[in-house]
Amino acid sequence: MNVAIITSSDSGYAGTREDLSGPIIEKMVTQAGYTVIKKLLLPDERDILSKAMAAIADNEEACLILTTGGTGFSPRDCMPEATMDVVTRPVPGIPEAMRALSMKITPRAMLSRAAAGIRKNTLIINLPGSPKAVEESLGFILPHIRHGLEIML
Ligand code: MTE
Repeated sequence: MNVAIITSSDSGYAGTREDLSGPIIEKMVTQAGYTVIKKLLLPDERDILSKAMAAIADNEEACLILTTGGTGFSPRDCMPEATMDVVTRPVPGIPEAMRALSMKITPRAMLSRAAAGIRKNTLIINLPGSPKAVEESLGFILPHIRHGLEIML
C-alpha cells in the first residue's frame, strides 16, 4: 500500500526549519509495511495544499495521504480547510479518536483542528505538526487504518 506524506510548513518550505515530523511519519509507516512513494514539503497555502492532495488521489498514486502541520490556530494554518476542499466523503471518526486519545496526554489536544476524508480511492488524514504529537497521534490510529483502506479499494 502506497503512502504520500505532505508537510505543511512555511518555515520548512523556506528552508529555515528542518522538517522533523515528515521523517517520523515515514519511519512509522514503513515499519508498518507501507511504501512511501512521495514526500512533499509545502508552504501553508490552502490552494497549493489542496491541489497537491487532489493530484495524488486523482492520479491514484497513493491510497493514503498523511499530512503534518497546519492544524492549529496560527493565522496561516489551513490544512483542515485544504483537506475539506478536496474530500468527497468526510471521515470525522479518525481525528475524533486522535483527539480523544491525545487528551489523555495533553489537554492541548483539543486545539487540533485536524480533519480526514476520502477522495476517490485515497484516504487523507491530517496529523498535528510537532514531532511528539505526530508520533503519538499516528501511533494511536496506524494499527486500525489498514482495515479501512482494504474495504475502500
Ligand atoms: N496531540 C498529541 N497527541 N500530542 C500533542 O502534544 N499537541 C496539540 C494538538 N495535538 C499535541 C496533540 C497542540 S499544542 C496543538 S496547537 C494542535 O495539536 C495543533 O498542532 P499543529 O498546530 O502543530 O498542527
